[in-house]
Amino acid sequence: MLKERILVIGASGQIGVELTLALRKIYGNANVIASDLREQNPLLQGTGPYVSLDVMNKEMLHVQVIRQGITQIYLLAAILSATGEKNPNLAWNLNMQGLLNVLDIAREEKLHKVYWPSSIAVFGPTSPKIDCPQQTIIEPTTVYGISKYAGEFWCNYYFHRFGVDVRSIRYPGLISYKSAPGGGTTDYAVEIFHDALADKHYDCFLKENTYLPMMYMPDAIKATISLMEAPAKDITIRTSYNVGALSFSPKELAECIQQHIPDFTIAYLPDYRQSIADSWPSSINDAVARKDWNWSPEYTLESMTQEMLENLQK
Ligand code: NAD
Ligand code: SER
Repeated sequence: MLKERILVIGASGQIGVELTLALRKIYGNANVIASDLREQNPLLQGTGPYVSLDVMNKEMLHVQVIRQGITQIYLLAAILSATGEKNPNLAWNLNMQGLLNVLDIAREEKLHKVYWPSSIAVFGPTSPKIDCPQQTIIEPTTVYGISKYAGEFWCNYYFHRFGVDVRSIRYPGLISYKSAPGGGTTDYAVEIFHDALADKHYDCFLKENTYLPMMYMPDAIKATISLMEAPAKDITIRTSYNVGALSFSPKELAECIQQHIPDFTIAYLPDYRQSIADSWPSSINDAVARKDWNWSPEYTLESMTQEMLENLQK
């Protein structure tokens, strides 16, 4: 077993729960400390240590890092795109200051590695819509996208200036059954499964032909761990890696669900999240991640849909 002490910040969130459980399998339960502002997610209870922590409180964070003998931090605390548009100041403050607090402490305590996710939200209306490349025009229009793009450059800066081994992925919209999404534009692709099983109907907040890059959570966990375990010499991108998996529209997802629930219906009632979705690409080119650390996704729209329905039914 590898000798690392890992702090996951934002462990009760959509990614945090599954990433904490996956890291505990690799590094041992006692060596992965889950932390969050809110209470521990029930799925984490009894699986390892938990501390209540606010990433904005740098002193307390620093104390925990020293007290727990932390060698790696996974920073997942953030305000996502839809919630960010409702409170831009809060999103900017948390997404920026939280990252800077972690990067500073990583530098001072000479942590081995830091993980911080960016998002496809860095791309804007002027970026290519299809097969959006790693390096291209990037002019985000949401506060979330602006904070992620600025964060990418802080990561790059701390790596080159101070040698902090910080790594990052631009996640697409993530689909999971274990934990609920936390206020993003891609949340429809999780809500639809819950409503299909409960009511056989879903009111979708995006238009039927809105194609977005998406990924099933097991692929996101695999990507994160593959990137973090890759030798440092292979990491050529110190801002954030594009990773691709699926690209589908609400209509296509609904049709796939109808293969399993034939009387499922969907209505389209687009709201303010439509313009956020319209500003993002519909698919991502991840050639650099494939080359640098052998990234490749496993799930298709069909296999993801089947697993989501089976697991939520349980
Ligand atoms: P989430 O909202 O589900 O979870 C975030 C967690 O952070 C929550 O449990 C919240 O309580 C916690 N948190 C908030 N403020 C905090 C603070 N001050 N101190 C400590 N904890 C705090 O988010 P998620 O979907 O799990 O996203 C995790 C990361 O991945 C974020 O950086 C997000 O931008 C990024 N990301 C997510 C997706 C997605 O589809 N879920 C896509 C792209 C990028
Ligand atoms: N799923 C995220 C969101 O919609 C993308 O970063 O905000």
